[in-house]
Parts: sequence; C-alpha cells; structure tokens
Amino acid sequence: MQNQMEEERPTGTSNLVFAVNGHRFELSSVDPSMTLLEFLRSHTSFKSVKLSCGEGGCGACIVLLSKYDPSHEHIEDFTISSCLTLLCSINGCSITTTEGLGNSKDGFHSIHQRFTGFHASQCGFCTPGMCISLFGALVNAEKTDRPDPFLGFSKLTVIEAEKAIAGNLCRCTGYRPIADACKSFAADVDMEDLGFNSFGRRKRIRKEVKSSLPLESKRFSWYKPASIEELQSLLDTIDANNGVQMKIVVGNTGMGYYKELEHYDKYVDLTHIPELSVVRRDQSGIEIGASLTISKVIEALKEEWKGEFLSECTVVFKKIAVHMEKIASEFIRNTGSVGGNLVMAQRKHFPSDIVTILLAAGSLVEILTGTMREKLTLEEFLAGAPFDSKSVLLNVKIPNCESIKNISPERNSKLLFETYRAAPRPLGNALPYLNAAFLAEVSCSKSSAGIMLNRCQLAFGAFGTKHAIRAWKVEEFLAGKLLTIDILYEAIKLVKANVMPEDGTRNPTYRELPMSIWISYFVTNYIGEAVYVDDIPSPRDCLHGAFIYSKKPFARVKGIEFNSKLLPAGLTALISFKDIPNGGENIGAKTIFGPEPLFADEFTRCSGERLALVVADTQKHADVASSIAVVDYDLENLEPPILTVEQAIKRSSLFEVPSFIYPKQIGDVSKGMAEADHKIISAEIKLGSQYYFYMENQTALAVPDEENCMVVYSSTQCPEFAHAVIAECLGVPEHNVRVITRRVGGAFGGKAIKAMPVCKTNLLSRSAMRAPGEVQGSYIAEAVIEHVASSLSMDADSVRAINLHTHDSLNSFYDSISRVPAVHEVMLRPTPGKVSILSDGSVVVEVGGIELGQGLWTKTDTSKERLQAQIGSVKWDMLIRQAYLEAVNLSASSFFVPDLASMRYLNYGAAIEGAFVQGIGFFMLEEYTTNSDGLVVEEGTWTYKIPTIDTIPKQFNVEIANSGHHQNRVLSSKASGEPPLLLAASVHCATRAAIRDARQQLYSWGCIDSSHSTFNLEVPANMPVVKELCGLDSVERYLQWKMSSN
Ligand SMILES: Cc1cc2nc3c(=O)[nH]c(=O)nc-3n(C[C@H](O)[C@H](O)[C@H](O)COP(=O)(O)OP(=O)(O)OC[C@H]3O[C@@H](n4cnc5c(N)ncnc54)[C@H](O)[C@@H]3O)c2cc1C
Ligand code: FES
Ligand code: FES
Repeated sequence: MQNQMEEERPTGTSNLVFAVNGHRFELSSVDPSMTLLEFLRSHTSFKSVKLSCGEGGCGACIVLLSKYDPSHEHIEDFTISSCLTLLCSINGCSITTTEGLGNSKDGFHSIHQRFTGFHASQCGFCTPGMCISLFGALVNAEKTDRPDPFLGFSKLTVIEAEKAIAGNLCRCTGYRPIADACKSFAADVDMEDLGFNSFGRRKRIRKEVKSSLPLESKRFSWYKPASIEELQSLLDTIDANNGVQMKIVVGNTGMGYYKELEHYDKYVDLTHIPELSVVRRDQSGIEIGASLTISKVIEALKEEWKGEFLSECTVVFKKIAVHMEKIASEFIRNTGSVGGNLVMAQRKHFPSDIVTILLAAGSLVEILTGTMREKLTLEEFLAGAPFDSKSVLLNVKIPNCESIKNISPERNSKLLFETYRAAPRPLGNALPYLNAAFLAEVSCSKSSAGIMLNRCQLAFGAFGTKHAIRAWKVEEFLAGKLLTIDILYEAIKLVKANVMPEDGTRNPTYRELPMSIWISYFVTNYIGEAVYVDDIPSPRDCLHGAFIYSKKPFARVKGIEFNSKLLPAGLTALISFKDIPNGGENIGAKTIFGPEPLFADEFTRCSGERLALVVADTQKHADVASSIAVVDYDLENLEPPILTVEQAIKRSSLFEVPSFIYPKQIGDVSKGMAEADHKIISAEIKLGSQYYFYMENQTALAVPDEENCMVVYSSTQCPEFAHAVIAECLGVPEHNVRVITRRVGGAFGGKAIKAMPVCKTNLLSRSAMRAPGEVQGSYIAEAVIEHVASSLSMDADSVRAINLHTHDSLNSFYDSISRVPAVHEVMLRPTPGKVSILSDGSVVVEVGGIELGQGLWTKTDTSKERLQAQIGSVKWDMLIRQAYLEAVNLSASSFFVPDLASMRYLNYGAAIEGAFVQGIGFFMLEEYTTNSDGLVVEEGTWTYKIPTIDTIPKQFNVEIANSGHHQNRVLSSKASGEPPLLLAASVHCATRAAIRDARQQLYSWGCIDSSHSTFNLEVPANMPVVKELCGLDSVERYLQWKMSSN
C-alpha cells in the first residue's frame, strides 16, 4: 500500500485522492471496507487518532473533514468519527487531525496550550479527539457573521463550547477542566467561572480542499451514481443471484451498531445523487432527501420559513430539529443520514428516534424498487417486509400540518406538537429506553369550560417492539373529547393496554411508565504526540492476535473450528495451552492465591476465559477469525458451575484467606449485639461490579530479540508482574525479557493485578477497579445508616452525627489519624530509579513508575531544573563536557524504599473530579450485566454508559487541604483517585432522600402503605430503578386521588 501512495504527485486520473494535515495522498487501489481510521493508524504517521470503541460511541477517533460543496461554492468543515468512515468516501476531501493543528516542532496550537493550561488531560487518550471536536466548533463559529471577538477569544458561545464535546468520553478528568478549556475560547464566557484565561489568539489552520475526479468504480469496487437513472441501471446489473454482495452506503455509521462481518464486493455510495441530498418544500410540506445528514436536516428544519407555513407548522419542524439534536453525537449526525436511520429501523428494528418523531408528524416516504417509485405512509413502510438490499429509500416527507387542521370543522383550533425521550443520558450518545411524539389539534370548548381535543397523532417507539407505532385506539378514543381527569385516566389505561413491550424486553414496566407521564404532560401542556503502545509502528511482517474466549462457565473443550468453509483470510496460527514452549508454564497472571492460567486447558473454568489466540496478518483478519470461531463444548458428567457467591458458600467453595490479611478485631461484635437495648434489624445489600472503561484498550507489542530474548511494549500498570509472568510462561530467565511501559491510556486498576476473590466460583476473576473493597465497604456503612434512620424515622444526618468516629475510636484502628469525612489508606512500594546525564547535557530518567496522567515526566523535568539551579553561574553544557573529559560517572541509581512510617499513610483526596465522576458512574449509571453463564454482555458504548459532560455536577466545590511536605515521600505526592470515588456515595444518598420525599407524597395520596420510608435503593440507581421506587403508576394514582377527592 505504501508504495502506491505518493505525496505531491500530479493528480492521476481516477485514483483516490485526499489530504491529511496538508499532505496529499493518492491511492490507486484500496479495500473498499477499509476505514479512515485503519488507514491513518496503519499507513501514516498520524497516530493521534485513537481506536477505542470502534463503534462511534467515544470520540477518540474524531477528525475534521473539509469538503468542497460545489452547489454553494464553499468549503464545509465538520467532525466525523474515522472509525466508521470508509476511506473511499473521502475522495477529494481534506482531513485534519490534532497533529495538523500544531506540534512540538512547529509550535502548539492554542487549543493544545489551553488544554495543558487547564490541566484538561490526564492519561491523554481522549485528548486528541477532544481537541478536534473543539477545533471543529471553533472553525464553524468563525464562519458566522457574529461580531469579531476580543484578542484570545473566538466567536464560539459557551453553550456551543460545551456541546462540542458532548459525544466525547473521558474516564479520567470528570470533564470540568476540559469544559473550562473549551469555554475559555467563548466570547461570552464568564471569566470567574474559569479561573484564568491568558492565551494568545489561536492559529487557524485550513487546508485548501481541491475538487477531484470521481473514483474509477470498478478498480475500487466503489460506485457513485450521479442520478436516480444511473442508480437504477447500476442496481439492475448487480445480480444478487450470482453471489455478488452489494451494499448501499451513505455515512456507514450503521456499522457502529451492526458490526457486520460480511465481505461486500461492491459499495454503492448514494451521496452524489443530487435528488437524494436536497430539501424541497412546497405548500404540502417539507421533503427530505434520504442521503441528507441528520445535521443538515436539523439546519434545514430550523430555518425561518418566512410565511410559507403556518407558524404552528414551523414549531413542529423546529421541535423535530431539537429532538434530532439529542440523537447520537455531533460527529455521527454530521455523516449519518436520515434515510440510513429509517432503513435500519425498517430492516433491522433499530430503536430509532427519527422514526418515532416523524411518525407522529404523519410523514410519508418514497421508495424505489427496480424501476418502480412508490409513495407510502411511514407506518406502511415500517410494517412492510424488510427492505431488500436493492430497494432504495428516496425521501421522507413531513406534511404541512395544516392538512390536519383542514379536516377539522374547528377553525379556531391550535396545534400542539411535543416529542419525548427517556435515555440513560440527556444528550451524549445514548439510545433511548423509549421515545414518543404527539401531535394534537385542540380548541376551547364552546359548550363547557375546558379544552377540546379534536384530533391527535400519538407515536411511541424504542420501548421493546419491532418498530415505532401509532397508538390508533388511544387516538380514536381521545378524538372529539373534552379533556377531563376521567378522560385522561381512561386514555392512560388504553395506552398501557395497547403499547406493550415484547417479551424479553429489559425493564418492561419502566418502559411503560413515561408514556402515561408524557401523555399527561402533553394534554396539560492535547495534543496527540503522546505515544501509546498501539501507536508504535508495527515492525515488518508483524502478526496480530485476537483471543477466543469461552462462552461456557464450566465445560470440556473438545475443539475449535471456524464457521466457514474456507479458513479465515490471513490466518497463520491458532495458539492454545498446547503451544506453551518446553520449559515454560501455562501462566497468565500471578495472584495472592497462586498463578492463573494463560489459556484454559482441556477444561474451561469460567465464561470469558481465554481458550486460544488467533494469529493473522492484520488485526482485522484476526478479529474476524476469532469472531467466527466455533468452540465444541462437552458438559457431560460435569458438576453445575458455581455462578454466585451464595452458591459458593452453599458448596463450601472458599479460599483459605492468609492470616496476614485478617481484619483487626476491635471489640466483641456478638456480645455487643446480644446486649443491645433495641431490636436488631437486618437487610441485604447487593453491589455489582464496575467496568474500568479505560479509553486505551489493553495492548502489547512483542518483538523477539537475539538469543531468545523478548522485548514487550505493554500497556500494563504493573510491568514488574508482567515481566515475571512472561518469563515464566516462555520458560526463559527474567533477564531475557524486557517490558517497556511508558504511558497508559487510563487503567484505574484494570491493567494492574488481579482482585482478591473471596470464593471459588466459575466466574472470571477480574483485576481490581479503583478503590476495590473500600468503595463497597463505605457504601455499606452509608446504607446501614440510611436504613437505621428510616427504621427509626430519624434524619439520616443525625444518625451519621451520632456514629461519626471520634479521635479515640479511630485510634483503636489506626495510630495516626486525620479527622476528615473520607480517609483512605495508601501503600507505597519500593521502586528503583536511575538518572544519567548524556554528553550533550540532556538527562535520562528511568523510573519504576507508569505515566497515568499523574505528570510523572513533568516531575522529572522539574528535577532537572532544580539541578541546574544548584550549579549557579557555571554553564550546564560546559560542566557536563568537562565531566565527560575527566571520565566522571554521570549516572546514579537508587532503590527507593519507603520507611515504615511513610509506607502506609492516610490520604484524603486530590485529582478529585475525575474520580468523583467515576463514582457517580458506579452509583448512578453503570450497569454491569452478565448473562446466565456469567459472561459480561454489556461492555461497549452502546450499552455501558459512563458519565458524559451532561451528567456531571453543575457545580462542584472542592477545597484541597495542605498535607504538608513529608520527607520520606516523593515530592509530597499523594494518591488521589480513591477518596473522591468513595465520596460519590453522597449522590446516591441524596437520590435516596429525594425518593423518600416522592414516596411520602404517594403515601399522602393513599397509594402506598406506611412502610414507604423503608426501601432498598440499588446500585446503580439508574433511571428505571429510581422511577420504580417513586411509583410507576404515580400519574394514574394521582388522577384517582383527584377523582375521589372531587
Ligand atoms: C454512536 C451512535 C449513536 C446513535 N444514536 C442514535 C440515537 O440516539 N437515536 C437514533 O435514532 N439513531 C441513533 N443512531 C443511528 C444513526 O442515526 C444512524 O446510524 C444513521 O442515521 C445511519 O445513517 P448512515 O447514512 O450512516 O447509514 P449507513 O450506515 O450508510 O446505512 C445504514 C443501512 O441503511 C442502508 N441504507 C442507507 N441509506 C439507504 C437508502 N437511501 N436506501 C436504502 N438503503 C439505505 C445501508 O445499506 C445500511 O444497511 C446512532 C448511531 C451511532 C453510530
Ligand atoms: S473509536 Fe471511533 S468513536 Fe470510539
Ligand atoms: S484524560 Fe480523558 S480518558 Fe484519560
């Protein structure tokens, strides 16, 4: 591939031509399924673009695309997710990555400077994507006709600055410093909000985008019809029966959800057919071409229509636009088309928002099958047989809502349109649990005081049926009715009877709830230069691996085959326990309870266990091969697996806990209980796990060296353990292995050591996640307090105050204490370090630490500055040259052994926001779901929801107490993540208090009994959990109470 690419060569005829950061690339052939991300990471030096989720959900791979729009004769700039964008679709475009904004050689861009200045980067993995999201927003704000900003600012508004990063995930910072860095550019920013703002004007970079010739379709298997007629004849020539696999594409974002593994022979790109890319409007409504991106549709629907439609109609269009702004994230909306969304919903039952809102607006679609064009209602389109691969959706039309009014005899009527969406996050990238949209014509009743509902269109979607539906029965019932409490109550009952999730839908009862509520509302009115392991260029002939994991918790593994007639492309080897070299051991990790195998042997002992490693020529081939592997399991004569702690206790399947980790016994608990004055209440608390969700996936690059040595670049947090395990597995002495970890893109314990299991189960043992055990312990303590308070009808804070540790009580556990709400014990480990000064005066520092965002390298730079300060007026270079001439040893090594007094110390919080927000995720959002075999099933961005910028505290006040300098600790450094994570239990406690109040209200309506104040609030307390405790049928109950009290 590389030699087909040339920079600055005269434009070849129909090659694929594009620019990246001003460098021109021209390719004469390419696999049409190759994504822009794959190209950037494997064929260019622009490695700032990261692969994290690969499904459009995290923003680590965002780039800015600039494209010439011939119809408007201007260049459009917008952000896109490079992991979903197909390379062929960027012909004639220019791409900017964060290296294109600035770099250490040419000078950093002010975005980079501000990210550094605002400490908006910790592990740094999300930073390049964040910078590009902000850059895209700045470039587009600059194009507006807003007044010129003051020096150091831009035309961006604060709201735009915050929205710019709404779809980017960060697991470290808690978003506040990132938001501050973004807002620092906004002309309307409140300086007091920010702390400081002192950077110069940003350097604007824009590469000229040249128009290019269309690709030679055949050579690239990429077809770009320029008219419907061309499309028709193209589809005609593609005969599905001769095995040619063809795919229509627009933005290709559908691949983020449906990770198809099929190979397509031909791609048909619809974006060059003008008819499919325009918005047409006339008196009958607005017709939207199917290939228009969601962003463009939002823009069109928000336009002022200057008297063309009734103002009520424009309200409908604007509300549709506002709802669409909550779909996915900006970088997905910029390429994802409305047509693609509707086809995904029709063909594969995708839980679409667009379908629901357009259904309520009474929309129509036009489809092309062969040579036949057909107009259908959106409802008919959804109910039809799944769209075949050669049918095309041409457009969707939102009718002028006047047509609804016209059929009503009421001329003084008013149109109402509302859309609703319940999702794990308000804005950032979360599919809805359910959605709804209602259009109604109402008028004042002439005969009696009240509102008459003349006609309505009610649509519900994403609640667990194949596609969105119109609630016809409810519409018929409500039509022509005067709106009273009794009518509303009947309507809600009808909705519940007619809009039901299918069997197997998660949280079915919750999904029904907002329907009644909605109905009632409605009628009442950096920088990219940091190198991570995967950024290291692969050596020549490098092979790539992907694990095959067990899907059974306990089974005999009889064999592994591939689910295709031919061997998977590029496959070179399948490595299992049988391939452990002579003298080596099947070991993957060492734990306190002994070693853990690298691969399962004849038996797999937990779901998720590694069975084998598929090795192939590319990562894509390895991934495909592992996904089509079929494992032959045998369960005969095997005991049932142990999948819960309860089962393990029942079967006495326990570990012998080493005595040195026994807890210190203080007092006699049984005696205390026996002598208690009051009754002893008991309750059960279940806490799930939290998924690390670090942004950089676990990666390793192993490079064999001479004499049976191996150099391993690893993203582990504990290279010393990896070192010992690799040597033992390969059966070589440790000095034959070198493990290098310079930087880790987030870890939180997940790339460290295995957690300590309590029981022997057939569940996969995980690594420790930030504050393991402590977060659970502290939560249990809080829950006990809350429970006692509820049982005694006391205020929880009073119970807390009575039970706060005193200096004396804490002294029984610890010898030195700090009186603060959250105290966390930190343990230091002995660590080696070496400093060498090279002949040119530069300094190499080798430390036993891993850069995880704590600024390790910044601290070593500071040490050099201190050294320089000590030599006074002597020039550093001169001094070092002299030392070299006189053969002075300019290298020193040391082994830092913390003395007993400082080895364990109590710590109470720093790097606070990121960990607190991670804690909010644990307590409020992150559902860790496993299937009945104990296999983690929800770990991608579609289903596992970590907090985004719109789910962080609006205001967060932190004051850091000065712990003073401790001579036995390095630079007074502190551990920081754990204490704030524990403190996030406060959000859970506050939610509990709010639920208690809601339940008190239900009690006052006579809906629940007097035990209302005692309830168990699960972790995570996500929306369905909270709503259920507040009463799923609160609207009906309220109406019943109202009816009975009237
Ligand atoms: C991270 C993420 C979050 C999302 N969140 C939401 C959300 O909250 N709510 C929501 O409603 N949607 C959401 N979506 C879905 C998104 O709207 C769709 O992926 C997008 O609109 C599809 O458009 P596309 O042009 O990329 O389609 P493509 O991926 O190009 O095509 C999708 C499918 O439709 C076919 N197709 C496309 N156009 C046509 C046509 N005109 N005629 C016939 N077949 C066609 C293709 O062959 C393919 O099978 C999300 C998507 C992502 C990736
Ligand atoms: S890697 Fe592309 S969005 Fe996550
Ligand atoms: S700094 Fe954002 S993911 Fe680590």
